[in-house]
Amino acid sequence: MKSSEIRQKFLQFFQSKGHQIVPSSSLVPSNDPTLLFTNSGMVQFKDVFTGKEARSYTRATSSQRSVRAGGKHNDLENVGYTARHHTFFEMLGNFSFGDYFKRDAIQYAWELLTKVYGLPAEKLWVTVYHEDDEAYDIWAKEVGVPPERIIRIGDNKGARYASDNFWQMADTGPCGPCSEIFYDHGPDVWGGPPGSPEEDGDRYIEIWNLVFMQFERDAAGNMPRLPKPCVDTGMGLERVSAVLQHVHSNYEIDLFQALIAAAARETHVTDLAENSLKVIADHIRACSFLVVDGIIPSNEGRGYVLRRIVRRALRHGYKLGQTKPFFYRLVPDLVKEMGEAYPELANNADRVAQVLKQEEERFGETLENGMRILDGALAGVAEGSALDGTTLFTLYDTYGFPVDLTADICRERGVEVDLEGFEVAMTRQREQARAAGKFKMAEGLSYEGASTRFEGYEQLSLDDVAVTALYVGGTKVDSIAAGQEGVVVLDATPFYAESGGQVGDTGVLEADGVRFAVADTLKVQVGVSGHHGKLESGSLKVGDTVRAVVDGVRRARTMRNHSATHLMHKALRQVLGSHVQQRGSLVDPDKTRFDFTQDAPMTPAQIAEVEVIVNAEVLANHATQSRVMAFDDAVKGGATALFGEKYGDTVRVLDIGFSQELCGGTHVARTGDIGLFKIVGEGGVAAGVRRVEAITGDNAVVWVQNQAAVLNRAAGMLRSAATEVPDRIAHVQEQIKALERELEQARAKLASSAGNDLAAQNAVEIKGIKLLAAGIGDVDPKALRGMVDQIKNKLKSSVVLLAAGSPDGKISLVGGVTPDLVDRIKAGDLVGFVASQVGGKGGGRPDMAMGGGNDVAALPAAIASVHQWVDERL
Ligand code: ALA
Repeated sequence: MKSSEIRQKFLQFFQSKGHQIVPSSSLVPSNDPTLLFTNSGMVQFKDVFTGKEARSYTRATSSQRSVRAGGKHNDLENVGYTARHHTFFEMLGNFSFGDYFKRDAIQYAWELLTKVYGLPAEKLWVTVYHEDDEAYDIWAKEVGVPPERIIRIGDNKGARYASDNFWQMADTGPCGPCSEIFYDHGPDVWGGPPGSPEEDGDRYIEIWNLVFMQFERDAAGNMPRLPKPCVDTGMGLERVSAVLQHVHSNYEIDLFQALIAAAARETHVTDLAENSLKVIADHIRACSFLVVDGIIPSNEGRGYVLRRIVRRALRHGYKLGQTKPFFYRLVPDLVKEMGEAYPELANNADRVAQVLKQEEERFGETLENGMRILDGALAGVAEGSALDGTTLFTLYDTYGFPVDLTADICRERGVEVDLEGFEVAMTRQREQARAAGKFKMAEGLSYEGASTRFEGYEQLSLDDVAVTALYVGGTKVDSIAAGQEGVVVLDATPFYAESGGQVGDTGVLEADGVRFAVADTLKVQVGVSGHHGKLESGSLKVGDTVRAVVDGVRRARTMRNHSATHLMHKALRQVLGSHVQQRGSLVDPDKTRFDFTQDAPMTPAQIAEVEVIVNAEVLANHATQSRVMAFDDAVKGGATALFGEKYGDTVRVLDIGFSQELCGGTHVARTGDIGLFKIVGEGGVAAGVRRVEAITGDNAVVWVQNQAAVLNRAAGMLRSAATEVPDRIAHVQEQIKALERELEQARAKLASSAGNDLAAQNAVEIKGIKLLAAGIGDVDPKALRGMVDQIKNKLKSSVVLLAAGSPDGKISLVGGVTPDLVDRIKAGDLVGFVASQVGGKGGGRPDMAMGGGNDVAALPAAIASVHQWVDERL
């Protein structure tokens, strides 16, 4: 049975049991900023389980693309070393939202496996949570699984997460006891049943996990019950395919065979059993789908996980001898395998290949050099000992080797890595960078006091705050005098220090006779704000207290723009698709500038739609809510890499209208405070990245007024109503065209009659033919040609040369010879002869030629010389 058929049969089976088939959601969870990637089928239903979201169905089934790399469920480092680990996999699942529970979940699973997929019942083993007698009895009494094949699994602390039969998505979220179904590959394969000491062997393979969702764990570890018991199941498509296709390793199933062959083709490898080919085949799936879902390789968060996977794939290509970009060329092969089940992959194939290629080119430059350094260092490290932290750091910092990549290579050689030494080297470098930057105002100030208490979410002014440090020219001082510029650090402040794309506040620090104008606020270090500015009067010393007052108007404008950015982000995802990911933003009092992943320019209709959606949220006047939680609680484990230093020790989850983001910025109290939202610019900034600029509040009002003023001015000039301006312009353009046509005709007429007059007055006779050589005023070359034709017709057997001069000193020459004379006189020669005398060139057919020049003074003599030239040739 092909994998595509297995997937299809699964969905159809559950559809026949009243389940709604729901498409796979994005790898970037839309409803959970603390989760790195969608790691299972239930993620898109998380809020349905908890009762926060209602759907029109209570049973669903899906084939969900999932990634387990980075975050709580992380399999990255196992890929390539085991038969069953993947960074990317498809999870088949059925879900009940307060509908059926354990009995039906178990019955359905059994029916599908034994009747539809035709697996022999005696090959199946099951586990239940040690206290779950109910599940045990259903398996034993109703399904009829013999007791020796039902195993109770305890809450064995320290076991791998999936094997303790209590499943949870992440540190927070829905969870519950589970029951797993195993397939026995038979006594030829080593390994013991679940819960036995040799359970890590490959004989008994878990294929399906049935989770009986009953609780929701919160950040503090409490587990209140869900409103109703639910079901969440997950069966790895790759695993069940291996069983049904009678192969031992997931990498031998049909889905992988074509990709492994393609990887071999691109690396010129003939041995398809090479482990590195499996790694590459696995990684092209993860990387391609991550790009499809809007992630781009970068140095933080999801982008960094993607970068690590790409670089791991390239390293394995390198190991096989492929040093040129090759990875991106597997995209069409992947599309062939999976494009039908996932049209979003087929539709984005070109962009995916382009993004991967760029990343390959970027890393390719340093991979080889880095490998040389690493090989050199490893030569001196004995098996069983560790590679030093300094080398690890150099590889990371200079050659772009993610630490896990280096660790991966070391592992192959039986060498460990010194992670502590790496941290030390990293810290040392940060300190050096800080010291080197001593004279820069924004960073590198050495500070060892307490953190600044930020009060700016609630207040714009604060009395009696103490000066804890002062700097002039980057150096710590005890006091500053009037007229000096410097940086003031306070124990508490309402000033927002620039971060997360939002500019720092301005304002004043004041006390009796003292006034320090704050021009900007920047972080001195995490949690410490530096007020940059000038002491305009008085003097200030460490220990003094001041009143800190933020420029409220400027801050209000900035906040409106910041809140609007969140709403716009969400609206862009609704209008353009879930591939839209923030790539950067700048929020200041004037505007918000937002960069995001998207290929095509936005159409005017899409821009209008985003505006309508955002303004609807504004009009709904939702209250903004923020929850600050300890960083560790909110994103323990998984998201550390994602948010890192950027957010300090606490993260703030911010709800504004329909949007939820992690954000430390300052925001309006209600969406209505934004006033009016208007997009004023849209353009491209890099491959696959677009930028929009938008304005809000009074800025938007002024903008609208200016637009109206421009329109009114135009209407006034056109003497029309504003609404008729476009029609009037179209009308005027028509008129201009008609007038131009008329003018051209009139000019031609004029030229032709001028030609007639010219011919009549100036033609001379030489040896029986007529010659007309004359200069006329400012006539364009086209009209000049018309005149020459005209004159030839009139004079019959004749030679004609006309010269015209334009006001900017350019001479146009046109020569014509009637057919009876062309064997003796060539128009091209004639024009060439004249042109050479006026500093130019010419040429053309024997009967008609054109040329030019710029020596106006020489023109009369040149014209006069024609007579003799013609005479000599007759
Ligand atoms: N969500 C469950 C799992 O991933 C089914 O195993």
